[in-house]
Amino acid sequence: MCCADVRCSTVARWQHPIAIDPDAALPVFLQIARAIAEDVRRGRLKRGDALPGSRTLAEELSVHRNTVLAAYRELSSEGWLETKRGGGTFISAELPETAPRAFAPRVASRDRLGFDLAPGAFPHWELPTHPRGTLVLASGVPDARLVPTAPLARAYRRALELSGPALLSYGDPRGALRLREALAAMLSHLRGLPADPASFLVTRGSQGAIDLVARALIKPGDVVAVEALGYRPAWSAFEAAGARLVPVPVDQHGMRVEQLATIKPRAVYATPHHQFPTMVTMSAGRRLTLLELARVHRFAIVEDDYDFEFHYDGRPVLPLASADRAGVVVHVGTLSKILAPGLRIGFVTAPAALLERLTSIRIVVDRQGDLAVEHAVAELLEDSEVQRHARRVKREYHARRDALVEAIHEKLGGVMTVDPPAGGMAVWAKIDPSIDLDAWVTRALAAGVAFLPARHFAFDGRARPFARLGFASLDPRELREAVRRMALALRKRRSA
Ligand SMILES: Cc1ncc(COP(=O)(O)O)c(C=O)c1O
Repeated sequence: MCCADVRCSTVARWQHPIAIDPDAALPVFLQIARAIAEDVRRGRLKRGDALPGSRTLAEELSVHRNTVLAAYRELSSEGWLETKRGGGTFISAELPETAPRAFAPRVASRDRLGFDLAPGAFPHWELPTHPRGTLVLASGVPDARLVPTAPLARAYRRALELSGPALLSYGDPRGALRLREALAAMLSHLRGLPADPASFLVTRGSQGAIDLVARALIKPGDVVAVEALGYRPAWSAFEAAGARLVPVPVDQHGMRVEQLATIKPRAVYATPHHQFPTMVTMSAGRRLTLLELARVHRFAIVEDDYDFEFHYDGRPVLPLASADRAGVVVHVGTLSKILAPGLRIGFVTAPAALLERLTSIRIVVDRQGDLAVEHAVAELLEDSEVQRHARRVKREYHARRDALVEAIHEKLGGVMTVDPPAGGMAVWAKIDPSIDLDAWVTRALAAGVAFLPARHFAFDGRARPFARLGFASLDPRELREAVRRMALALRKRRSA
């Protein structure tokens, strides 16, 4: 119990220094509540101190009394305040946050490492830090400005309102059944994949899927064949699992799969639909050879089907998984391109025994995905919102591809040659070999445009006279400006 005098004198010293901003996003009653809680944290208000009556405080702060009452109610529900019999509002004797006791002098930073790390082949990473205003011809990033955020927000809210407790608890590590059903319905129709939701595992993007597959398939030293040029983040997942990567060249028909007969890998990672980064579609003959070699030599084909939806001229080719009689294909897909990468929703379809193993590993790695997000996305799929969005952005990306190709012909013709790709989100451009591509990329960055030279995708890291230019995340006006800046950077190089 606190002595009334002490309480009064303490409170007499409390000057209610509450700065209220009526234009702030935070409602005024919460601003008052946060300010009082902060004063308790700083020790300006102590356990048992009486707070002024709501009328008094309201007058001092020039707010409505109901606002102060709402602030007091909020603080009571959080455990900062208590009301006593006989009236009066007091700082609670049992505060919700008790500052922990230090047992030794505190350290200010965690820069020092006092043990050894296991050797690992992880690439150095950093968040891309292009100066503001840089136009980034990102290698395969969709335009997040086009994402249907309002329907997504409504669906997320509905998911929580209808099934909040279940979705916020532990759930099915294979992903919400509702989402697997919606994916199975869409993908059996579009990609010839199984229509049974039990054949799907929902993962954190396709990167999460590839990582799980690598853990399930690879023991240290196993050989994994990869396309060269290719997709480095997938290579890293296999290397992290202990794989030895063997590069296989790519030509105008896709990966040179006949080389796998001598390599006899444990697994092959491939992007047959649009080879990453060259955008070539693997020919029917190569596809059949690949399936046959995998059957005979019992290796797994990890098929990364990352941008199936984006096809502009002609018809897309069904994935290898749709013709897999021998149970050799592990099909990996993603909603990152068709919807939004930040949602982190990918999926795997594979023979049942592998799916079971992947699920067991998933429980160890991150237990499950975000079930509320999964339900929200399932609703968007059930309502065909995703499919409508895909059609919209496909039209838009088609126009962007044409705008980029046209701008290149106009401003960089003779230096850069592009064949418009039949689909996908990037063009693969051939560069005049007399040009120092690395120097051009550096100067282009200074001129406010970023693009990736072939070296970035090369297994051996060597330069080649090609570059990949993503067109999906910039609108036609931005694409034309990007090409103008590239041309400017090139002229500067020539005149330097
Ligand atoms: C070849 C390839 N695979 C997969 C992905 C998608 O990754 P995620 O689904 O993890 O976002 C990308 C994205 O850039 C990619 O280029």
